[in-house]
Amino acid sequence: MKVVLLGYMASGKSTVGRLLARQLGMEFIDLDEYIEHDQKKSIKDIFSEKGEIFFRKLEHQMLKEVLEKDESIVLSTGGGTPCYGNNMDTILKQSEHSVYLNLSIPKLVDRISKEKEDRPLVRNISDEELPEFIGKHLFERRPYYLQAKHILDCNDANAETVTENIKELL
Ligand code: S3P
Repeated sequence: MKVVLLGYMASGKSTVGRLLARQLGMEFIDLDEYIEHDQKKSIKDIFSEKGEIFFRKLEHQMLKEVLEKDESIVLSTGGGTPCYGNNMDTILKQSEHSVYLNLSIPKLVDRISKEKEDRPLVRNISDEELPEFIGKHLFERRPYYLQAKHILDCNDANAETVTENIKELL
């Protein structure tokens, strides 16, 4: 079985994915970490040294590679993963469960403002501009996230509760 977690930056995909995999006895893969391991570089350095287009090509290849594995996997994607090329189609075809971790704009702004530094797409956005940036960005990305098999409201839930809620969907 493959379970793929989707959602905007800082929506809890990696934390929840790790917990879920542990509880289900499945392998956990974080796509960003998988890319960093392959390139022996941080996402931040890949963006600054090679640019976003290079990163998106890599992300596309690595997504296919991970979803072609035979093992049962919980996969946490990057916030942009489903929104480029045919990645969302690949996710829908190659996984039994895709789950969108849905969080409101104010919640995302609050979380992202505290951890902007390692996120190349937002690190140069000022705190004043962040709500408008995230609002517009989410507007563009939501049509992709909403194609997920399951949509989970995560606004009033901690990682443990979100994990329990996902287990009920499987
Ligand atoms: C990105 C999200 C990041 C990472 C990269 C691009 C995006 O992952 O893949 O910085 O386009 O939203 P997280 O969602 O884990 O922050």
